[in-house]
Amino acid sequence: MDKIIITGGRRLQGDIKVSGAKNAALPILASVILGGGECTVTNVPRVVDVFTMGKLLGILGATVKTEGNRVVMKMDALRSSEAPYDLVRTMRASVVVLGPLLARWGEAIVSLPGGCAIGSRPVNLHLAGLEQMGATVTVEHGYIKAKAPRLKGARICLDFPTVTGTENLMMAACLADGTTVIENVAKEPEIVDLAAFLVKRGARIAGAGTDMITIEGVKELRGADHEVIPDRIEAGTYLAAAAITGGDVCVKDCRPQHLEAVTAKLREAGAEVTESKESVRLKASKRLKSVDVKTYPYPGFATDMQAQMMALMCVAQGTSVITETVFEGRFIHVPELQRMGANIKVDGSHAVVTGTTQLSGAAVMASDLRASAGLVVAGLAAEGDTEIARVYHLDRGYERIEEKLSGLGAAIRRVPGMGQPNQIAKGRA
Ligand code: UD1
Repeated sequence: MDKIIITGGRRLQGDIKVSGAKNAALPILASVILGGGECTVTNVPRVVDVFTMGKLLGILGATVKTEGNRVVMKMDALRSSEAPYDLVRTMRASVVVLGPLLARWGEAIVSLPGGCAIGSRPVNLHLAGLEQMGATVTVEHGYIKAKAPRLKGARICLDFPTVTGTENLMMAACLADGTTVIENVAKEPEIVDLAAFLVKRGARIAGAGTDMITIEGVKELRGADHEVIPDRIEAGTYLAAAAITGGDVCVKDCRPQHLEAVTAKLREAGAEVTESKESVRLKASKRLKSVDVKTYPYPGFATDMQAQMMALMCVAQGTSVITETVFEGRFIHVPELQRMGANIKVDGSHAVVTGTTQLSGAAVMASDLRASAGLVVAGLAAEGDTEIARVYHLDRGYERIEEKLSGLGAAIRRVPGMGQPNQIAKGRA
């Protein structure tokens, strides 16, 4: 297994480009299931989760051709309605094929993803919504089995604004009979991007990006072209990396409006942040101050940026309270940061981080995608070498991260290891 080795202490400087958003690309690719026309999707990040989705869609019967960051796809016939455990366990987001399969082909068998490094991850809201649309859903032998000759429009109110749950139900409703209204939906930019693509394909969707989405079912969706939005979490990770090294970095090809919760916190901590239409520049000329952070669904501070922000707070001046409200147990990076000399105390969903002047490089282990990103950020500022094992977590969501950070002057390199992990740990997308 590959390792990443970072020699910390280099001040990052220069321009860095953000790739397409993994979390937008995944449901957009899955939505090929909803219609027969050819779709061309560009700005698709070349990351392992996207390859996994391509593989899954191939099993289901889609043709998916990838050329660089462009994917051309089509699905004319169903080969299988089953998303097998072997794929789903490596990527929980595979569950977004459930709604589209059911809506177009009347049946879906999707493995339950099982436990996950960042806490229990139910899909009960996805299933309840589909049942309200007339589906029969059972869970047998570790698989969700859903059937519905034709879904019916319904009024659904989600208990929590689940991101992939909103995507599943929105996609299912595109081909349902009548109108579906989903309340308390997730408002993430990735939902808005998926809705924009579906509308290009002939879907009738209103309200994406607000608390309530209304979908009028249509008979079928056609092909369309689409460019995936930039990855706001990747952009935020580079801003945190710039901040922790006292750097001066311009993050290009991003949407500053999607990053507001993060840039507000970085400014509050004392960084100088300037935004233009498609870039954000961060300068940190002095040691940053501690700030409190609480994660929320969008437009709140993203849980996917919590580990990177915590790394930054480990060397800030003062004490910061970081509260995780979206996922239970999403503090798995804490023991690793402690190995690097961080002073962190966890009490339930709160982590109290007292800044220290210097972290020290250590051998650490990535345990999920964003936890790994947090360790990279910490390693960039630590004294000496930080060796991050289990890099496959990072590869699930970051395109060429070591190359991109090297371009800013970081001393970061990948050391190829022996073979691939035979069991990729269940991680969060
Ligand atoms: C998505 C993102 C992930 C991000 C997360 C929260 C993708 C591919 N992944 O994951 O990167 O960290 O949103 O922003 O887009 N819940 C239930 N029942 C359900 C569904 C969810 O109780 O049926 C709970 C979860 O346990 C969790 C919370 O809702 O506590 C949010 O989860 P959710 O928004 O569903 O996360 P994902 O869509 O899996």
